[in-house]
Amino acid sequence: MSVGAESVARNSTKSNLKPGESAAKVGDLRNPHADGAKRGRADSFTGGAACHHRTSGAHIRDAMASVMLDNEQGHTPASSRNEARQMIRILGISGSLRAQSYNTALLRAAQSEADAQIRLDIATLHGIPLYDADLEAREGLPAAVVALREQVMASDGLILATPEYNNGIPGVFKNAIDWLSRPANDIPAVFGNRPVAVLGASAGGFGTVLAQNDWLPVLKTLGTRHYSGGRLLVARAGQVFDAQGELTDAGMRTRLKEFVGGFAAFVEGLRAG
Ligand SMILES: Cc1cc2nc3c(=O)[nH]c(=O)nc-3n(C[C@H](O)[C@H](O)[C@H](O)COP(=O)(O)O)c2cc1C
Repeated sequence: MSVGAESVARNSTKSNLKPGESAAKVGDLRNPHADGAKRGRADSFTGGAACHHRTSGAHIRDAMASVMLDNEQGHTPASSRNEARQMIRILGISGSLRAQSYNTALLRAAQSEADAQIRLDIATLHGIPLYDADLEAREGLPAAVVALREQVMASDGLILATPEYNNGIPGVFKNAIDWLSRPANDIPAVFGNRPVAVLGASAGGFGTVLAQNDWLPVLKTLGTRHYSGGRLLVARAGQVFDAQGELTDAGMRTRLKEFVGGFAAFVEGLRAG
């Protein structure tokens, strides 16, 4: 199993991406997909040797340097080329800021259930301010948004772990995705054709079914490839997680493993097709 470090978007009022700047500009350095290249090839840049504790931008730059070194030496070992091709990089985004969040805990359980060729990193939404068009016009994207955007663009697919508030998407989560949809010209580079799965845990008896349904028009608008091969609804979360946030329900662990495996196969299928 390959376990990624949980990364928390950094809090900052400084902006890195100004209105009008596009992914192509930032992505030239940070994003192998920015030129519209087919998704799922990022690992040919990273060589599967990325450090999970740094931002994707940093490890992609390092990995590119390593690829250049290989080229200078005139070869890349076949084994590492194969490894790189097989690795599937999934970013799980937790829609809850709560330290004891069931949804973040669900992503941690997914990490531990994921097969060896899946690298699942977890991002949370700490530090992302409320969307404010005036702030965007003045300063561009906040640093926490840029950091999350880089993680999204470096992934082969996303898992959104959504809580449910008042039978819908929590504002905190929708707000973050709204930021990621700016500037609108970059939506194809950030979201277009990106495989996305939605799962969720709630205290109530319906396991986020209504929040999950609410994501469908949003994801459709952003042009993602929605994974509909399975559904994971964790109801009465207080009964399936222990006080330490460990998913103790064996049946649910099995279902989670199947869900993540199914999504990874979906990502791989899109990559191959
Ligand atoms: C404002 C608010 C609204 C909520 N609405 C729902 C709801 O509609 N359905 C539900 O099952 N749980 C609801 N809950 C309870 C959440 O399922 C519970 O707080 C859960 O722990 C949130 O996810 P988290 O543990 O990842 O933070 C609500 C909680 C809050 C704070």
